[in-house]
Amino acid sequence: MVIETLSEDVRKVVEHWKDKRGNLIMVLHDIQDRYGYVPREASLEISRQLDQPLARIYEVLTFYNYFKLQPPGKYNISVCLGTACYLKGAPSLIDEFKRILHVEEGKTTKDGLFHLQIVRCLGCCGLAPVITVAHKVYSAVKRSEVADIIAEQTRVHADK
Ligand code: FES
Repeated sequence: MVIETLSEDVRKVVEHWKDKRGNLIMVLHDIQDRYGYVPREASLEISRQLDQPLARIYEVLTFYNYFKLQPPGKYNISVCLGTACYLKGAPSLIDEFKRILHVEEGKTTKDGLFHLQIVRCLGCCGLAPVITVAHKVYSAVKRSEVADIIAEQTRVHADK
């Protein structure tokens, strides 16, 4: 990442929002829209340009689930941990994704391919446990199917 460009981006975003109420959150939204996450360098720059303590910025970033502090993976894996999915074995699916991909919840694999995130109810509880990978919905997923799901996405990726 070129820091000068990021700094310039932050300057433009701050300029746009600086006189509006609740500008910090709008600036953070804007930066995440541009980069897919809020890089630490951007937070430092926002802190300087908005004259807000860095701790305040991280308070906001960590309070809202929406904000990401890491670059997103090429493929987002969302495992639903809502009540229905939880009761139908979602925790075991999470363990299997973590084991196979060597990645923690909320993190991206070292190759940048997969990002594992936990979500609360995808709105199709009758199909529990539900996961989505790169916007494709998988229902009634069993732990034994996780490896195939990853392999399928990896194949799709290799074909592109
Ligand atoms: S609890 Fe998982 S889809 Fe509703």
